[in-house]
Amino acid sequence: MESIRILGTGSYLPSNVLTNFDLQNMGLDTTDEWIVQRTGVSERRIADPDMATSDLGYHASRNALEMAGMTAKDIDLIIVATITPDTCCPSAANWLQAKLEAPQAVTFDVTAACSGFIFGLNVAEQYLKNKTFQTVLVVAAEVMSRTLDWKDRRTCILWGDGAGAAVLTLGNEGHEILSTHVHTDGANGEDLLMPGGGSKTTPISHESVDKGLHHLNMIEANLSFRIAVRRFMESIKEAAEFNNIDVEDINWFIPHQANIRMFQNISKSLKIPFERFYLTLQKYGNISSASCAITLDEAVRDGSIKPKDLICLPVFGGGLTWGSALIRW
Ligand code: COA
Repeated sequence: MESIRILGTGSYLPSNVLTNFDLQNMGLDTTDEWIVQRTGVSERRIADPDMATSDLGYHASRNALEMAGMTAKDIDLIIVATITPDTCCPSAANWLQAKLEAPQAVTFDVTAACSGFIFGLNVAEQYLKNKTFQTVLVVAAEVMSRTLDWKDRRTCILWGDGAGAAVLTLGNEGHEILSTHVHTDGANGEDLLMPGGGSKTTPISHESVDKGLHHLNMIEANLSFRIAVRRFMESIKEAAEFNNIDVEDINWFIPHQANIRMFQNISKSLKIPFERFYLTLQKYGNISSASCAITLDEAVRDGSIKPKDLICLPVFGGGLTWGSALIRW
């Protein structure tokens, strides 16, 4: 029977590494020990100044297309999940389309913060099931480093830059997406936000810059930690129940890479062996929408994921947004 299939995955990380020790040396009031203990992050990647989100997405897309044995000319639809587009208008997906030289593809962005890749897969799924489009490129790309206040030790230690991508189709060949689930709670979306730059605070002014309104801000980090753990667990259970399987049947959990302690908690609560969480946050930090797309690609390419493995990708992000994908590799 025809179903939604992944034909290829790809990722791209900038080569510039920023370690916790580098942050200390920049004069930030923190230590490697504190950051590793409280988050699990040791280092993150930072995009070169001349690279925008669509540039990172371009390299990830090329890798995904190569794995799929396709060219950009085979793509009907490009969806980019991002909260750091090159420009508000045109979309990052439009810039990417031009760079990939894929004028036949329809393009748009999806904004769902750290859950963006799964929201992108969910949208692609609808178009493929409807047969509106045949081959969809879902890209998640972020240059989070440009949104950060490098003097704010609560936030700047967490994030990094990078991109992941997947080529999807409806068919019998490839790795089957068994389900995607997406949820939002707009009434409680104020905790993680970038207040400036939108219609609420434009035009951009000296005042808005001086007040730091254009930086990513976290109001209640502890609260968002607890909500994230709850939503991750709900998402895992929802994916298992929907597909009539037990959580223990799932071979790999590739979550949004927010904080290692979240997954230690979830491992205990849901009795999932911690080794089943595939994590890259130690070396890349939190790359918002791109985190789980990049991590999926790494787990595929290093051979950790074997044919027929069941993989759950639970996500949670600002907005609030959360959800999951379940894939039979
Ligand atoms: N280095 C050293 N000390 C730091 C620090 C840093 N980088 N950041 C904060 N601190 C200090 C705080 O100022 C506070 O000091 P105080 O007790 O003197 O006031 C102390 O460490 C504890 O801060 P707290 O915020 O309670 O730490 P925490 O254990 O909750 O860890 C986070 C902070 C941000 C790592 C954690 O709350 C978290 O990961 N939250 C989720 C955020 C997130 O990922 N949200 C998005 C999900 S997609």
